[in-house]
Amino acid sequence: MKLILIFALCLLVIAVVADNKGKSKNRDRDDSSKSNSNSHHDSDSDERDDDDDDEVKWNNYKQKNKKGYKNPEEEVKRRNEFKKNDNKFKKHNERQKTGQTHFKMGHNRFSDRNDTDLERKFLHKFTRRDFSKVQNKVPASSYPIGPDSVSYRTSTLPVLNQEACGCCWAFSAVAQVEAQLKRKDPAYSTRISPQYLLDCQPNSGCETGGAVSDAFSFLKTNGLVDAAIYPYTAIEETCKANIPKLTQQVTSFTHYDLNGDENLLKNVLAAVGPVVVSMYVVPGTFMHYESGIYWDETCPNQCQKVNHAMLLVGYGTDTETYSEPLDYWLFKNSFGPSFGEAGYIRIIRNSPTYKNNCNIACMIDFSS
Ligand SMILES: *[C@@H]1O[C@H](CO)[C@@H](O)[C@H](O)[C@H]1NC(C)=O
Repeated sequence: MKLILIFALCLLVIAVVADNKGKSKNRDRDDSSKSNSNSHHDSDSDERDDDDDDEVKWNNYKQKNKKGYKNPEEEVKRRNEFKKNDNKFKKHNERQKTGQTHFKMGHNRFSDRNDTDLERKFLHKFTRRDFSKVQNKVPASSYPIGPDSVSYRTSTLPVLNQEACGCCWAFSAVAQVEAQLKRKDPAYSTRISPQYLLDCQPNSGCETGGAVSDAFSFLKTNGLVDAAIYPYTAIEETCKANIPKLTQQVTSFTHYDLNGDENLLKNVLAAVGPVVVSMYVVPGTFMHYESGIYWDETCPNQCQKVNHAMLLVGYGTDTETYSEPLDYWLFKNSFGPSFGEAGYIRIIRNSPTYKNNCNIACMIDFSS
């Protein structure tokens, strides 16, 4: 069956400013600070002047996230968005306290932009994608029922930051290969170059995005490159030829359309190890995720919509945080270690209300 899916692209991080270009790379690159420590300025003391409080908060935010703006007007706009987001996070986190939602939102480098801006700048146009050339049917009964919980987190290498480039497709693909190599050999530590994919794989890029199955196909044909030899620059550049290849190889890869079947995803993950999931996220909540189990009632359950890809590394049930046990999927993201739970995000699993929330059980790709 010829299967045409709307395929989509990734989140794009925008470099800070034009007149700060030399420094902006380092600024965006530095994403190592956890941004939830403004709470000591949240004092509701009557004595405190609100404007002073806002000023302190804003300066802390800029410093913590290494922000620079091209001019004072731009800063006023961004500060305004920051303030709105700050209020939004407070309201949301109140709802979290009363169990109406199960994750917290907090400040990170995305919180000085409005939702429209996030969507426009960090999510991309869809391109049509034909998966008929790759396997797309899960072989019937080929996967036994997975255990109640699985975590491959110890088989992953440290979280990376895709920065100002929409190439989650490349980061998630190399993260999957790394994790599979580390599963086979716990001493494995070589980082595989996403830049090699970005520069050399046709029909893909920072702004055009790319398909994860194409990335695996490319790596299978062309080999794996050490990221230390072909480092990440967050810009699509000319493909460098004659790069030495690692002895490790991608020998086969698989694409499955799971049509929203979370049980099937669980069984496949338990059997094959970490897999890349292409999904659809809502920028106004996803980008601001700090901790807990994420879901968004506006996330679609319709497999054609995709705008991000992450490495799925496990699933389980949180029996401690909420009034009731809550099932989750565990993902490794590529927004740096300061995003979410040390660079990871948990997304709701088996929700009776929001099945297949954010299309987490639609398209998966994995190498073996
Ligand atoms: C959101 O931010 C962008 C960029 O600063 C701006 O162009 C747009 O007007 C803003 N939208 C709203 C609804 O405030």
